[in-house]
Amino acid sequence: MTKPRLAVLISGQGRNLQAILDAVADGRIPAVAAGVISSRADAAGLPRARAAGAPALVVAHTDYAERPAFDAALAAALERLQPDIVALAGFMRVLGDDFIRRFRGRMVNIHPSLLPKYRGLHTHRRVLEAGDAEHGASVHYVTGELDGGPVAIQGRFSVRPQDNEEILAERVMRDIELKIYPQALAWMARGELRLAQERLLFRGRELVAPLTLAELEPEFR
Ligand code: GRF
Repeated sequence: MTKPRLAVLISGQGRNLQAILDAVADGRIPAVAAGVISSRADAAGLPRARAAGAPALVVAHTDYAERPAFDAALAAALERLQPDIVALAGFMRVLGDDFIRRFRGRMVNIHPSLLPKYRGLHTHRRVLEAGDAEHGASVHYVTGELDGGPVAIQGRFSVRPQDNEEILAERVMRDIELKIYPQALAWMARGELRLAQERLLFRGRELVAPLTLAELEPEFR
């Protein structure tokens, strides 16, 4: 069986990207790293991609006056990678409907909140302001609405009195994101997780609630 081709879209640091590339390299994600596209030329994730031997390219949003033109250029660059799976990993541009329709069912995103809570930016600050007892991150299919779309897996932890914005950001990244994203992509690459119409299927059954940290396989913990 040929491995699915995985493309990753980034804009910044690329810590999620690194975890994904590591899991591809050691075989935990049974996919080919088809390429990495950044919306910024200075993204720290680009050298990570090159170091892993994955094609790394830039489609800079600043080169396009209008969003449709940027979306079209990005879609063209992405199509050239012939991806079966598209992972948005800290990709900070809002994508238009045409783009989303084109990659629907094969595109997922990671978001640093317990969706549907706190779509958009500054999630850690908003959790603290609301006095929430729990926080976490979610991997969801990209279907239209910003940070909407069915959630496949969500990892959570209890907020502690000493947590500030910075600490929460690090806990979400290290304890949740870097585990659930490679795991979700592994499931997708194996064909165990997929979107059928509006419904999420996991190992042939409809997922009625997101998977949790309890479902992580040992190699992703
Ligand atoms: C992550 O917190 C992700 O959830 C959000 O942007 C951040 C990306 O960080 N969408 P990195 O580029 O993976 O280091």
